[in-house]
Amino acid sequence: MICEAAEGPCSYSGRSMSTIHHGMGIASEDFEALVGALRTTLERFQVPLREQNELIRIMGLQRESIVENP
Ligand code: HEM
Repeated sequence: MICEAAEGPCSYSGRSMSTIHHGMGIASEDFEALVGALRTTLERFQVPLREQNELIRIMGLQRESIVENP
C-alpha cells in the first residue's frame, strides 16, 4: 500500500485504510509512534533526508483515515 502511495511500481488491492483501522481506537500518539519507527528505519538505511520527508509526508496523508482519537 505504501509502495503504491509512493507512486509504485506496486499496486495495492486490499481494503481501504479507514475500513481496516476502523474501531481500533488508534490515537495520534500511536500514529506518531509508527512514523517515528519509520524515520528510525530510514535513517538506519541512510536514506537521504529529502526522500525520508517525501515518504513521511505521503504516510501523513493517511492520518485522517486511521486516527480515531486525535
Ligand atoms: C500511515 C499509517 C498506516 C498505514 C499506511 C497502514 C496500513 C495498513 C495496511 C495496508 C494493513 C493491512 C490491511 C489488510 O490486511 O487488509 C494494515 C493493518 C493493520 N494496521 Fe495499519 N496502517 C497504518 C497505521 C497503523 C497504526 C498507527 C496502527 C496501530 C498503532 C495500525 C494497526 C494495524 C493493525 C492492528 C492491522 C491488522 C489488521 C488485521 O489484520 O485485522 N496501523 N495497516
